[in-house]
Amino acid sequence: MNPPQVRRQVNPKTAADTLRRASKLRPRLAIVLGSGFQSVAQAMTVARAVPYAKLAGFPKPTVPGHTGKAIIGTLGGTEIVVLSGRAHYYEGHSLESLTFPIRVLAEYGIENILLTNASGGINKKFEPGEFMLLTDHLNFIGDNPLRGLLAKGRERFIDLSQTYDPALNKSLQAAARKTKTKLHRGVYCALSGPSYETPAEIRALATLGADAVGMSTVPEAIVARQCDLRVAAISCITNPAAGISKTPLSHSEVLEIGEQASSQAVKLITEFSAGKMPAAH
Ligand code: HPA
Repeated sequence: MNPPQVRRQVNPKTAADTLRRASKLRPRLAIVLGSGFQSVAQAMTVARAVPYAKLAGFPKPTVPGHTGKAIIGTLGGTEIVVLSGRAHYYEGHSLESLTFPIRVLAEYGIENILLTNASGGINKKFEPGEFMLLTDHLNFIGDNPLRGLLAKGRERFIDLSQTYDPALNKSLQAAARKTKTKLHRGVYCALSGPSYETPAEIRALATLGADAVGMSTVPEAIVARQCDLRVAAISCITNPAAGISKTPLSHSEVLEIGEQASSQAVKLITEFSAGKMPAAH
């Protein structure tokens, strides 16, 4: 039998070198900004912003509100790199390609990563504009970013029994208390999108243990675990999921609620960034 035809990836070292040349800072914390979290970039003291187009192997995001820049600087006095904008599976990217930036961050020296996203609330206790700390996930995209050619020096079979790091979660909860941010805990379910779910799908996901539903984050979390990064993720609940409220879902509602919640997101993440980070694995 012929081996599967798998495209050989660009070496993540190339883009990591570009980031190292861009600034003398050597951040160990990275934050990926999803819908509703873009204002975090404005709260940074920026040393250098590098467009994704200059980073070898980075996919280009096409969604409005996802600008596509790696921003090196400080937030809350801590050196960080922010990925402002991400590519999604529904844009046609492979999971391998859209998670490539995570491999670059690992190569760059990142030890802790915070992933952010917008999601629909399935748990009836969740109100739009509130946040959820991911305690676990359901990968219902129907694909896995580790499928295909094994990345050099990495394990094939990754343990996901503790994907989201308890020490980082504690820091985020402490930051939420300090900034008076409503931060629920729950399970995030990732679907491929781009259509929103049907009410029947949401009822099914609720039965299966999902508290929120979205179209990102899970592939990045899986690759970050393969790269042995500590991972945390927070979601901005932008709408009740399909069938939970009578109003139809729209991307503009997602963006609008994300925008309204963004000043709280900035407070929460700045406080988190200012706090002590756990040591590397
Ligand atoms: N479903 C899927 N993705 C989402 C939603 C939703 O209701 N809201 C924001 N992103």
